[in-house]
Amino acid sequence: MSQKPSILLTGGSGLLAVNWFYSKKSDFIIYLGLNERQIHPHGGHILFLDFTSEQNLLKQVESISPSMVIHTAGLTNVEKCEDNPELAVSVNVELSSIVAKVSRKLDIPLVHISTDHLFSGISSLVQEDEPINAINVYGRTKAQAENAVIKINPNALIIRTNFYGWGTSYRKSFSDQIIQSLRSHKALHLFEDVYFTPIFVGSLIQTVHDLLDKNAKGIFHVVSDDRISKYEFGVLIAEEFGLDKSLIHKSTLQSQAKLMKRPLDMSLSNRKVREYLGRNLGTVKQHIVLLHKQEVESKIQEIQLL
Ligand SMILES: NC(=O)c1ccc[n+]([C@@H]2O[C@H](COP(=O)([O-])OP(=O)(O)OC[C@H]3O[C@@H](n4cnc5c(N)ncnc54)[C@H](OP(=O)(O)O)[C@@H]3O)[C@@H](O)[C@H]2O)c1
Repeated sequence: MSQKPSILLTGGSGLLAVNWFYSKKSDFIIYLGLNERQIHPHGGHILFLDFTSEQNLLKQVESISPSMVIHTAGLTNVEKCEDNPELAVSVNVELSSIVAKVSRKLDIPLVHISTDHLFSGISSLVQEDEPINAINVYGRTKAQAENAVIKINPNALIIRTNFYGWGTSYRKSFSDQIIQSLRSHKALHLFEDVYFTPIFVGSLIQTVHDLLDKNAKGIFHVVSDDRISKYEFGVLIAEEFGLDKSLIHKSTLQSQAKLMKRPLDMSLSNRKVREYLGRNLGTVKQHIVLLHKQEVESKIQEIQLL
């Protein structure tokens, strides 16, 4: 019997990597590359990655010889990046560059996870070739990372996205926050002036594997088929989960001076990936049904207990 292919996930304790592990562990051997937080999900192979030099990381990756590397590690907290730009460069740009060098040298397919925070937020549904114009440190460092990765490893697959799914005890996603508030009968304020194209994490992961199966390289926007405001997203979640949507109140980012360094419109067009794969990725409403289905089918306890 031939051995399963293997995946090395950097940022192995993060929201995306943990969901990747649970959605693909029956088809792949999965190595969760950790940093500080220790987790031991059943069936996962754990290793603490050494990013202090290219040589050290190369030896580690060579020893497990993964079939692919998915680079999800990053400094993802927008405020933390703003307060500590040097750390943001070190984590978001330098780590990505080392991973790109190692994957290039070992000729291992690389998926680099990027963001929808790369634009100023005045255009809707932007395409992959739109010039980047990030307005905060997080976005600028993620943009620098993309440029570095493409230069070092032109075969890399770069995925710009914005996702949600069931989170762990220590890392909640946007949908978790909405569901938890509504289930505790707490009022919730969501922005009606911030637009995005969020994708259910399971659909994101499957789409990335479909792209890898076709040897895709370069930049792809892997997001939902439609654009929605954060307020409307909350209302759709409330409706699907049978929760009280009157607890959700409209607010505006423009009235929150402290948070203003964020793009108002983060929506990305997924036309390129739809054409490439010959299928739609699904609407926000369809994805929220998938999120609910995971709970109904009792598929989320292990993640939530981590
Ligand atoms: N969440 C979203 O909706 C969203 C939207 C757009 C793009 N993205 C991108 O998607 C990727 C995954 O996001 P996520 O939400 O899953 O991230 P996350 O939950 O914040 O996890 C980040 C991971 O990076 C690791 N990490 C942080 N600093 C590190 C360092 N110095 N060295 C090595 N590892 C380090 C963390 O490990 P420790 O905790 O142990 O440090 C953690 O495992 C990121 O690249 C992010 O920019 C996310």
